[in-house]
Amino acid sequence: MTINTLNIVDEYIRTHPGSQKLHERAMGFFAADGATHQARVFDPFRPYIARAQGTRKWDVDGNEYLDYVMGHGALILGHAHPAVVQAVQEQVAKGTHYGENHENEVAWAELIQRNMPAMEKMEFFPCGQEANMMAIRLSRLFTGRKKILRFAENFHGWGDEVVVTNTPGVSNDYVTMIPGHDLQLLEKELATREYAIVMAEGGGAHMAGQIPWDPDFIRSIPALARKYGTIFLIDEVVTGFRDAPGGWQSTIRVTPDLTSLGKIIGGGLGVGAFGGRADIMDMLKPKASPQPFARHSGTWNANPLTAAAGVAACKLYLDGKPQRRANELGAYLRKKGNQALKTKGYACRLYGRTIVHLYLGPADYEPADDSLPPTSDVAKLTSGAAQKERLCLHLLQRGIATMGGRFFVLSGMHTEEELDQAVDILISSLDAMSAEGSLT
Ligand SMILES: Cc1ncc(COP(=O)(O)O)c(C=O)c1O
Repeated sequence: MTINTLNIVDEYIRTHPGSQKLHERAMGFFAADGATHQARVFDPFRPYIARAQGTRKWDVDGNEYLDYVMGHGALILGHAHPAVVQAVQEQVAKGTHYGENHENEVAWAELIQRNMPAMEKMEFFPCGQEANMMAIRLSRLFTGRKKILRFAENFHGWGDEVVVTNTPGVSNDYVTMIPGHDLQLLEKELATREYAIVMAEGGGAHMAGQIPWDPDFIRSIPALARKYGTIFLIDEVVTGFRDAPGGWQSTIRVTPDLTSLGKIIGGGLGVGAFGGRADIMDMLKPKASPQPFARHSGTWNANPLTAAAGVAACKLYLDGKPQRRANELGAYLRKKGNQALKTKGYACRLYGRTIVHLYLGPADYEPADDSLPPTSDVAKLTSGAAQKERLCLHLLQRGIATMGGRFFVLSGMHTEEELDQAVDILISSLDAMSAEGSLT
């Protein structure tokens, strides 16, 4: 693709005629500016993808992208991994929905439990937020309490009680949001003994830790929650089996009462799951009235197609190879990227683990461990959305796909060469933004 930095929008439109046509058709159907997910609302439009393989995807105009979206974090084996493709192809010919129990749902649960032994019992859902919603329901039944304690910026889905608060149209009277890392405040709230559940995103707020947790803060939650009779859930929808076979919790050696999973456990098909302490999960067991129990329905729970993909993928996670590789690649991208950014004098920095976040600066200090951001100002970490959107366009036009220019999602299939390419293109995109005056 040719680049005219002074007019990146015109260049993008010129080189994406097929996507533009599809976008115009989509505008007639999808009220969110033609998009089917908030992250795909984009000015002028995101590319329409026709095919994906490994670490690459191609749009309807034949433009190739090195993919750092990785299915919103769902793909650590890359696109169309042969083992997953084979499992899905075999299953589709055997039927996609039996409306009955089947062997793969059991095999899948066994694999998940082998990865994460704290999942004493579990249940499957069509998506991650539903898993969180059921975790809230069971916690309420188990404790006889209604309230939910959550941390600022932590995202657990778009439903009323799981979305980031201050979202218009949301009714979540029973949710209290407190800032992270304030132990005193946490204890003060828990001590009211009104909370059924306290929830934290694995790794930190937004995609595994745009705002990272201090692991010591999370390590102090289980004892406090136990003291005041509140259930502690770690939401590992993004980090589960991405950071390590045992999830982020295994890397910091914390065992919550409940864990929610999603994305990666489905091998690229839609899924959610949650599980943990058998005594809490037993609230799903039908009981004689008037004892309470939760009913679990859902047409697509553990459907055979997703289960087949999940089993094939989870088998490959057990030895931790894809996770180790993705972590190594994350360290490589941070090192190479931060070197290049410093050399060019950009105060921007990369940090994170297998999802590498971009911080647009200013760098307040250089952390000893570059998996951490170079500022402790949480507001700065989430700022710069408009500039990141612009960067996203520059990256797309140069063949790099990201979610809104905010982070690079890695798989175990990316290569060092592809990361070098990403760094080169990140720098040339920032250069272009400086030249056009869109980088402050
Ligand atoms: C931490 C976290 N929890 C829950 C969810 C919701 O998962 P789903 O989109 O599968 O409902 C997401 C989605 O990105 C997430 O990042």
